[in-house]
Amino acid sequence: MRVLGIETSCDETAAAVVESDGRVLSDVVHTQVELHSRYGGIVPELASRDHLRFILPVVTRALEEAQTERDQIDGIAITSQPGLTGALLVGAQFAQGLAWAMQKPVVAVDHLTGHLLAAFLRYPNAVGYEPPEFPFVGLLCSGGHTALYRVEGFGLDQIFELGATRDDAAGEAFDKVAKLLGLGYPGGPIVDKLAREGDPQAINLSRPMKAKASLEFSFSGLKAEVARYVQQHGVPGDEPRLRDLCAAFQHAVVNSLVSKSVRAAVKEEVRTLVLCGGVAANRGLREAAALATSEAGLKLLIPPFAACTDNAAMIAFAGSQKLLLGQNDSGNLRVSPRTALLRVTRKGSGPRQVTSK
Ligand code: KG4
Ligand code: ZN
Repeated sequence: MRVLGIETSCDETAAAVVESDGRVLSDVVHTQVELHSRYGGIVPELASRDHLRFILPVVTRALEEAQTERDQIDGIAITSQPGLTGALLVGAQFAQGLAWAMQKPVVAVDHLTGHLLAAFLRYPNAVGYEPPEFPFVGLLCSGGHTALYRVEGFGLDQIFELGATRDDAAGEAFDKVAKLLGLGYPGGPIVDKLAREGDPQAINLSRPMKAKASLEFSFSGLKAEVARYVQQHGVPGDEPRLRDLCAAFQHAVVNSLVSKSVRAAVKEEVRTLVLCGGVAANRGLREAAALATSEAGLKLLIPPFAACTDNAAMIAFAGSQKLLLGQNDSGNLRVSPRTALLRVTRKGSGPRQVTSK
């Protein structure tokens, strides 16, 4: 089955053509990073307008690069949740219209499910890449989400949240700390680069929720500590101090992500840990995860960078598994800012929230 995937949930307009066995025939991503960078974060209205501007050219290019005519497409997959409502609506309306015109089925895909299943994508240049076997533990850490899941299959009812962040996502913490330090947006890659040459022990920052046996995360306290440091000492003017601060912050985030991921895999008695989401690009995280999983006798799988950051190939693949089951959401596409996955983590200090849909 050959599927056209479309993704517009946040600040990337993306389209891809993927076979249901995971083969990626094309993967086009138009990023809005520059558009939002001067505001230090994403401006939802600007995001929607830019999706509207680019969705047709991006889809056209994805079909062209895959050397696929419209009538060779068996179905369309569209991100329906979670994300910015206006941005999601652009993609959903476009996908529904195209599906009607092509008389093909269209299926709604949860963005987080897409990230977790991105490990099944087979890029033409990834020779020898072996996708994971079920069950596995997935650490999804991006700008909008940070959570651990037990993944038993492709369906929404086979993916179980083990613990999520109670406040900021890991990528969001990187972005906010970079903003505090005047380093620009997105902050993750810049902090990662500076941290490489810094000494993580030079500045003492606490380890978020270290003592807790739970699989939940918290990063806003750590961000506040960096803010306090800046308040007391000013933004480090000299490069070495700035590198040390980035290294200390990154070390604390990575330590929390890795220790809880390994704890989750051991607790769930699974052999494989999969990293996904934009923060999986972080060098410190990759190194620490490789070391910790080898010590624990676990297999670590980090999909190629293009599969970790927001893309439509992961949406096409996740959608293809629904289409293979004969599902069709045509005429029934709904968008939502929340994930369709069952949430078990208590946000902030409020009551435990268990929501679905
Ligand atoms: O998955 P993604 O592309 O988009 C979302 O769904 O959020 O992730 C983007 C996030 C941003 O917060 C960015 O700062 C972070 O991933 N990121 C990194 C690195 N590269 C991207 N964080 C830490 N280290 C990196 N090297
Ligand atoms: Zn994402």
